[in-house]
Amino acid sequence: MKAAVIERAGATPVYRDFPDPEVHDGEVLITVAAVAVENVDRAIVAGSHYTAGAFQAALPAIPCFDGIGRLPDGTLVGFGGLTPPYGSLAERAVVPAAYTATIPDGIEPAVAAALSSAITAMSMRTAAGLEPGETVLIQGATGVAGRLAVQIARLLGAGRIVATGRDDAALEDVAALGADTLINTTASDDELLRSFRTHAGDGYDVVADFLWGRPTELLVRALTPETFAFHQPTRLVQIGESAGPAIRLTGESLRTSGLEVYGAARNLATGMATAYQQVVDWVSNGELTIAVETVPLSQIAQAWTRTDLRGRRLVVVPG
Ligand SMILES: NC(=O)c1ccc[n+]([C@@H]2O[C@H](COP(=O)([O-])OP(=O)(O)OC[C@H]3O[C@@H](n4cnc5c(N)ncnc54)[C@H](OP(=O)(O)O)[C@@H]3O)[C@@H](O)[C@H]2O)c1
Repeated sequence: MKAAVIERAGATPVYRDFPDPEVHDGEVLITVAAVAVENVDRAIVAGSHYTAGAFQAALPAIPCFDGIGRLPDGTLVGFGGLTPPYGSLAERAVVPAAYTATIPDGIEPAVAAALSSAITAMSMRTAAGLEPGETVLIQGATGVAGRLAVQIARLLGAGRIVATGRDDAALEDVAALGADTLINTTASDDELLRSFRTHAGDGYDVVADFLWGRPTELLVRALTPETFAFHQPTRLVQIGESAGPAIRLTGESLRTSGLEVYGAARNLATGMATAYQQVVDWVSNGELTIAVETVPLSQIAQAWTRTDLRGRRLVVVPG
């Protein structure tokens, strides 16, 4: 079969022949229909993700670990559970039957492939318990996941949405999606600190954090009072680290800021089915837009390094 193949750590995938995977007991053959390429896939290829070991040990290997495809009877399913060197960026995949889930009617395969980032944005409710009327801050709102988070915060009834990004034109797109207040993180430390404080109003109830690094370090400083005062809780959901893998977190800031930090996966084991159904309903009735850029598998080498997607998820389709 044809596949996108990584020959060595960090390399760009090459479109070439690769041996077909064999189907064993309990497994199913999938004809791949759509695969979203995300930052996590690039990090696994680069060897910088904590799960990269098995992929790196199996090189040459096919990247991406899930996707949308058709069972032999034509049913459209989401699939995962691939074992390196096999990944989903290929014409075919073999996975355990238990790692497939039927995709509801009315959702295009390319959009279905990108649903996971919307499920992640649902962590504002599943992990942080977002209630209607609350103020939400979205760090990294100009990215694919951030734009979905802005829409989802609005759909979940957020009272006010503050959005950060580093490009004014992209931030205007985010305003059109429902953000009330925009903050550009390229400002100096003092200016950014001031912006976080000025736009907090009565406080940020929930933060969806796709950035971490410098912007979140400054946010935490902005939440830390400079007088003896009781501060309301700010429930921060840690989702991504586009601006850096670490922050400096002082004991004082944790003691006094009201900051509570949750991982995006909190409560997902019990909340996933409801979150998934909610996202599917919003997409089906047109309330939630998932922007995708589809490219054929044969064009993977050029597509892998594209930097012009501006909030659209790269989705690889057959061809
Ligand atoms: N845990 C999960 O399930 C899950 C799911 C989806 C995403 N994520 C994570 O969330 C993060 C965002 O994902 P994505 O798919 O939305 O990525 P994306 O489309 O590439 O967006 C990245 C965002 O971060 C900003 N950014 C990038 N580098 C930055 C820097 N050095 N300083 C400040 N801002 C920076 C981008 O700004 P520009 O628009 O100006 O480039 C954009 O807003 C990634 O870390 C990803 O791994 C996690």
